[in-house]
Amino acid sequence: MLDTDKYTVETITHIHTWVPEKLFSIRTTRPPQYRFIAGQFARLGVEKVHDGTASIAWRAYSIVSAPYDEHLEFFSIVVPGGEFTSELSRLAVGDSLCLERMNYGFLTTDRFECGKDLWLLSSGTGLAPFLSILYDIKTWEDYERVVLVHSVREPGELAYRGLIEGLRQHEYLGEYAAEKLIYVPVVTRVPTPDVLGKRITELVGNGELEQFARTRFDHDRSRIMLCGNPDMVEDLRKQFTEKGFTVSKRGKPGHLAVENYW
Ligand SMILES: Cc1cc2nc3c(=O)[nH]c(=O)nc-3n(C[C@H](O)[C@H](O)[C@H](O)COP(=O)(O)OP(=O)(O)OC[C@H]3O[C@@H](n4cnc5c(N)ncnc54)[C@H](O)[C@@H]3O)c2cc1C
Ligand SMILES: NC(=O)c1ccc[n+]([C@@H]2O[C@H](COP(=O)([O-])OP(=O)(O)OC[C@H]3O[C@@H](n4cnc5c(N)ncnc54)[C@H](OP(=O)(O)O)[C@@H]3O)[C@@H](O)[C@H]2O)c1
Repeated sequence: MLDTDKYTVETITHIHTWVPEKLFSIRTTRPPQYRFIAGQFARLGVEKVHDGTASIAWRAYSIVSAPYDEHLEFFSIVVPGGEFTSELSRLAVGDSLCLERMNYGFLTTDRFECGKDLWLLSSGTGLAPFLSILYDIKTWEDYERVVLVHSVREPGELAYRGLIEGLRQHEYLGEYAAEKLIYVPVVTRVPTPDVLGKRITELVGNGELEQFARTRFDHDRSRIMLCGNPDMVEDLRKQFTEKGFTVSKRGKPGHLAVENYW
């Protein structure tokens, strides 16, 4: 495959499996001219061959890596029989991945103004954009507190947990994270020590999340990002808007920014 006006062809440099046949991360080379804001997504293409004819399947993928990293990193589910992930999960280090030259998305902190507490509420691979946001120094300069919630079915799916907890010792971000980061892992299907066990929607509704994070949802202070399972995102959006929180729109900053994955 060769670069075109629409996309570049990148090389896979690293693959990490979190849960075999379900969750993995993939690193690729990054074209020097590829720019993005933390929280945005890329469009990735994999070549597939059907009845002897080759074509490229494209899907949206949040960028995990920081805007200043030399590589790009993505965090992926494997959907059994899924057109894109069946191909992606077969690739190995050294293989090619297409990357659209354009980057996309509005799940970015510049949608907000004047917040003090940044809430990042995710399910499954919806964690991905929030990792990039955590690696952005601006996040820590702008907010007094950052609450990251990651809900998964089973404990092994708490991907990036070591890295998130390790942020408190990070060379540059550590001084901020040690004071400001509240990480809330949630495991819904297997009783697990030291994590919350109910769905985020319930934890928000019954006040348990606020209690656990020792932080209140507050119109003046809270800026809330939702990412992942569309039912979760929609249910939370409803809960928050019923309490008077508003969705940020272009030119009209509010309290909420949302992204559905399917
Ligand atoms: C803005 C945006 C950003 C995205 N970022 C990511 C990302 O960072 N990582 C990622 O893995 N996916 C992400 N997705 C989903 C991704 O684009 C594909 O849907 C996914 O790769 C599956 O592709 P597929 O062709 O194998 O299955 P599809 O035919 O696309 O999906 C089939 C079904 O699989 C389920 N499904 C799809 N994606 C997921 C998922 N991520 N987690 C759990 N179930 C899923 C849904 O039930 C969906 O109907 C994103 C989607 C959008 C719109
Ligand atoms: N063995 C497997 O399960 C397996 C293997 C390979 C691939 N897959 C693929 O993985 C996909 C599932 O991925 P996933 O587990 O990351 O996604 P998910 O089903 O969205 O679950 C992730 C987290 O979101 C929670 N959640 C789901 N719907 C919610 C809602 N309406 N409100 C609040 N919280 C909600 C889940 O809680 P609950 O636990 O309460 O639902 C779980 O904690 C499957 O569709 C399949 O394609 C699954």
